[in-house]
Amino acid sequence: MAGGPEHVAIIMDGNGRWATGKGWPRLVGHRKGAERVKEIVRCAPDLGIRWLTIYAFSTENWKRSTREVLGLMTLFARYIQREAEGLSSEGVRMRFIGERKRLDPRLQDLMAWIEERTRNNTRLNLTVAINYGGRDEIARAIRILAQRVESGELAPDAIDEVCLSDTLDTRDLPDPDLVIRTSGESRVSNFLLWQSAYSEYEFSPVLWPDFTPEVLAEIVSRYGHRERRFGGVRV
Ligand code: IPE
Ligand code: IPE
Ligand code: MG
Repeated sequence: MAGGPEHVAIIMDGNGRWATGKGWPRLVGHRKGAERVKEIVRCAPDLGIRWLTIYAFSTENWKRSTREVLGLMTLFARYIQREAEGLSSEGVRMRFIGERKRLDPRLQDLMAWIEERTRNNTRLNLTVAINYGGRDEIARAIRILAQRVESGELAPDAIDEVCLSDTLDTRDLPDPDLVIRTSGESRVSNFLLWQSAYSEYEFSPVLWPDFTPEVLAEIVSRYGHRERRFGGVRV
């Protein structure tokens, strides 16, 4: 049996459908989704989760309307400002993965600020993926390695799986044990492509704004009955 998952990664999907289904603008769904994040962050340590990684904005999400993109960016900034105190008192260390340069400089500053402010917290490691794409992350890492090779600092033969892992945005994170996607879609949408090579997947029909700590607890308990073999055989 697998025991409990220490690192859970979540593709938080379904905010738009949740809102439009009720006749409301998509942003209302995103706002409700942000409330869910607070609850899930609060309950995660009690479920034995030490690492929680959530997908908030993909490198493909720029295709959405300016209104929706700006609304999401505003929500991210507001979340950081409003939650800073609570995260600190709950022992949450917050990090971000994804390409930051395309984000508003003020948001980048807030991200750096909260990372620094929460860096000594150890109860839960919360990582938020913003402007994150697995392919983009791997391409950026390869560019860094190529520059090291060009400068003579790194031999091509020294590039192995560990070396590449250590160059990704997730270099300080363990691989996820369990990846959950909400809203009934069974796809990965460019999330943690390299890191989830041996992760277990759960596709839940629940829309993210309806995703309660109870739903998470049930998924986590199901995970405990899975057998992870990592390519080996059961002995
Ligand atoms: C997930 O909800 C949040 C983001 C991708 C930012 P969606 O906005 O994708 O919601 P649906 O899939 O359209 O319902
Ligand atoms: C994935 O959801 C990205 C996030 C949850 C941030 P999308 O809604 O963007 O994915 P697709 O378009 O359905 O694949
Ligand atoms: Mg979606």
